[in-house]
Order: sequence, then structure tokens, then C-alpha cells
Amino acid sequence: GKNWVLTVTAQTPTNIAVIKYWGKRDEDLILPINDSISVTLDPDHLCTTTSVAVSPAFTHDRMWLNGKEVPLSGVRYQNCLKELRSLANDVEEEEKGIKISKKDWEKLHVHIVSYNNFPTAAGLASSAAGLACLVFSLAKLMNVKEDNSRLSAIARQGSGSACRSLYGGFVKWIMGKEENGSDSIAVQLADEKHWDDLVIIIVVVSSRQKETSSTSGMRETVETSALIQHRAKEVVPKRIIQMEEATKNRDFPAFSRLACADSNQFHAVCLDTLPPIFYMKDTSHRIISCVEKWNRFEGTPQVAYTFDAGPNAVLISHNRKTAAQLLQRLLFYFPPQSEADLNSYVIGDKSILQ
Ligand code: PMV
Repeated sequence: GKNWVLTVTAQTPTNIAVIKYWGKRDEDLILPINDSISVTLDPDHLCTTTSVAVSPAFTHDRMWLNGKEVPLSGVRYQNCLKELRSLANDVEEEEKGIKISKKDWEKLHVHIVSYNNFPTAAGLASSAAGLACLVFSLAKLMNVKEDNSRLSAIARQGSGSACRSLYGGFVKWIMGKEENGSDSIAVQLADEKHWDDLVIIIVVVSSRQKETSSTSGMRETVETSALIQHRAKEVVPKRIIQMEEATKNRDFPAFSRLACADSNQFHAVCLDTLPPIFYMKDTSHRIISCVEKWNRFEGTPQVAYTFDAGPNAVLISHNRKTAAQLLQRLLFYFPPQSEADLNSYVIGDKSILQ
């Protein structure tokens, strides 16, 4: 019959880069100019839940994001769907009388319903969790047998940073050498249990949408900044090795120095772009000063900060005690006010996925 519907639901947290991806060598395939390393957050905070469904009654591929239908016509969605369909396999659900053969997936249509448990417009990387979850849930629905690394190469074509959300814990996105992107994949460096005393606090400085999208920002930086070449060729390769070492040894001082320096260099290449891109705001700079002063006063780093393509601070404290002290300081120096630019704090432990 035509009445059956088969569904799969998955949940994927977002990830925060501590060595940043900024700049593409291939815009269509989304191939980066350097490796990057991230931490995947706990799925209780900042995560996407996606349900995907297939039915012979569906006439088109359709998607709803936070209850509103969004077009799937973009090339990035289309590339992900095309590749997943080509890897699909037979699916059989005997008790429901459902039998889908490999080649049926070419004709069958899917419906995708996706929710973020945080405001999409908060300027907090929502595409990373979203595209990773979409690829993961569709792969399950279509009985795709490829491992998470192969799936990461598909998610990468939806949104670069999404490839790192296929794993929990510490994740490296290897830039790869191949022109077709087959070796530009994410690998897990350490799982979510490896360093579970870290506590991440996200300070929402502004919930407005960012002015420069990461796609156009990266393009302008690669086209106009001389500093980005130095960063990609000379600086990041060394930092990747040092960051892998720091996470392996749970060396918080090294982790913190590298993460802060890399965030600052990322924003420096944005400033070196023509016209310059300003992602951070005055409050962002004041948060940096506050953390730097505290770390210097203590003689060893207590907290790391990192900022993505927006003004919100991601603060990583090295245990619960420092996280409590950090919150106290934040509430004192940056009290949340109704009309102020500082709206809220999101507290999330670093851990798990799936
Ligand atoms: O994947 P995109 O296009 O959203 O780019 C993400 C870029 C940064 O968040 C600034 C850095 C990173 O590595 O996630």
C-alpha cells in the first residue's frame, strides 16, 4: 500500500572550535585551507533534534526548521541528499509490511523536521548541529552502512563545521589533499569521557543575526588578507600538533593558551580582510580582558575563551569550581539587564553525542 511511513529520530549537539576553520580552498565541496579541532558539547544544551520520514505518499522532499518550512533547493542540501541516496541500501520492516529496495530511494521522497533547543538566531553555530543531524538521521533511515568518518565528509558539504559534530569529545577535521574531498573528514581525538571536568559557559552578548555570513566572510578573507596565508601555512599546523598534545595530556594551561591565541588570530585575520569584518563587540573585548586579567593574577590559566563568527563568548573553565567562580565574576561585571546587550548565559558540560 501507500499508507506506510517510516521514521528515524536523532539528536546532535553543536561543536565549538578551539583551533578555527576559516577559509576554503574549494567552495563547492567545502574544502578548508587548514585542519581544525573542536569540542562537541553535551547534547542537553545547544543541540538539534531531527526526525526524518519516508513514505510513498510523499511527493517532494520537504523540510521544516523550528516549525517553519524551509526550501531544500540549495546546492548544499542537494549535494547531501544526492550522496546519501547513492549510498542507500535495502530496508525491510516485516511487522509493518515495509520493503524498500536500494533503487527505490531514487524515487522516494523524504520529509525532514528539525528543532534546535536554542534560539537559531542567537548567533550560536546552529548549522553545525543541524547539518550533522540531518545527515546522520537520513543515513540511518536509508540504511547507509558507511562509518561516521565517511558520513562526516557528507555533512561537510552541508556546512564545513558540521563534519565535526558526528563525534563527541575532541574532534579533528583533517583538511585532506584530494581534489574530490574524499580525505577531508573528521576523526575523534578523544571521547567525551576523556576530559569531562571541563565546563563550558556561553555568554550571549547579542542574539542578533551576524552581519557577515561565514561563507562570504571566508571568501573575502581568502581573497584580500595576506595574514591568512601565514596563518594557514605557518601557524595552524604547529598549533594542531600542540593542541592534540594538550588534549591528550589534559594540560589545561596549554589548552587555554592555544585556544585563546587561535581565537584572537582568527579575529585578527577578519580585521585584516578588506573591508574589515568585526565579529566581536565591545562587550566581547571586555570579557577577554576580564579573563586575561584573572588568568594572569592566578599565574596559570583558569579559563579559556573562544569566539566564533559572532560576539558571543564561549568560556571553558577547567573544573566546576572555576566555573562557579567564573559565573560569579560574570554576574558581577556583566549583570544581565533587560535592555542590555548581554542577554543570558548558557551552561553546558562538555560531553557526549548520540
Ligand atoms: O561551518 P561554517 O561555515 O558555519 O563556519 C564555521 C566557522 C567558525 O565557526 C568561525 C570556525 C569553526 O571552525 O567552527
